[in-house]
Amino acid sequence: MSRAPGQFTVVAPGRVNLIGEHTDYNDGFVLPQAIERGLRIAVCRRPGSRALLASDRGGPPLDIDLGAPLLAGRTDWGRYVAGVVAGFQRLGWTIPGFEARITADLPSGGGLSSSAALEVGIATVVETLAGQALDPVAKALLCQHAEHEFAGVPCGIMDQFAVTLARRDHALFIDCRSREVAHVPLGTEVAVLVIDSGVKHALGDGGYAARRRDCETAARLLGRKALRDVSSIEWPSLEHRLREQEGRRARHVITENDRVLAFKAAAEAGDWPAAGRLMRASHASLRDDFEVSCRELDLICDAVGRLDGVFGCRMTGGGFGGCAVALVDGPRASSIEALARTACAAALGHAPEVFLTTGVPGARVE
Ligand code: GLA
Repeated sequence: MSRAPGQFTVVAPGRVNLIGEHTDYNDGFVLPQAIERGLRIAVCRRPGSRALLASDRGGPPLDIDLGAPLLAGRTDWGRYVAGVVAGFQRLGWTIPGFEARITADLPSGGGLSSSAALEVGIATVVETLAGQALDPVAKALLCQHAEHEFAGVPCGIMDQFAVTLARRDHALFIDCRSREVAHVPLGTEVAVLVIDSGVKHALGDGGYAARRRDCETAARLLGRKALRDVSSIEWPSLEHRLREQEGRRARHVITENDRVLAFKAAAEAGDWPAAGRLMRASHASLRDDFEVSCRELDLICDAVGRLDGVFGCRMTGGGFGGCAVALVDGPRASSIEALARTACAAALGHAPEVFLTTGVPGARVE
């Protein structure tokens, strides 16, 4: 297709986390993959220094002066855009004017990182317009910083790393302390199924920040830099030092880090039943110890987890609503998808959105 000069489209995927929940901000391990659903940002250069953006998600169109220093304080979707632009401004980049139209097939507030997709998508737009690129890790960190400062969510690095660094047909293992990544091939023996509970979460509402504070308090009381530094072997001799609730939060993180490493080993060995058992254990831990699941997610995981050909099912993302993820037998994936839809409809009383996805590459110019 021919394209006028100065026009291009950025594709920014959402992500689903296979395992490793609420471990990223504890310097731990995570294993997300980028998914087929995401955002498309159709961009056209324009003279001057203004950015005009519109989204099919509704919300007011944005008119941002790229030449004036941008400060936090917006409450609309423009906060993500402004946060990313501000990051580039601080680096001294000059950003040419542009117009952008955003379309999405990713539920917002659905736990699939719609905000990271927007941040990394906009960062990719800025790089393309400026004709230079950041190191991918620096780019992901700039986007994470935008989320902290402009959206007020003290998120870890998982989402922005996944949306930036993912590779086709691979999951992305991240050591959130060293920031080293490894691409883990998933192959065709298994498929990834996503089930949207339809319960909208808002991580800015306080539950996420409260969990993060509990973890930091637990690490401090245990005299460690982060919960990453507590092993599951020494945990039984340390847990008496914490109050009941902090103890449960810490136990989730400590055991979840072990599960991520065991899942990675199982995936590398093609031992999908073992990987599935780890997902089930992860869900139970998030439900009982970390308390970030909800009734609908529990019903979905229970209903889908019973189906023949499903290795494991768990809630995914920050929680308090959003999506569940299941690892299913690859050759039977389409029929399992249909059965999962019916089983969830019976459990919930309404049919949730269910879709299969392969792993896709991180944000890119199409
Ligand atoms: C949200 C955050 C991530 C991570 C997950 C929970 O998606 O943005 O950084 O903490 O919750 O695993």
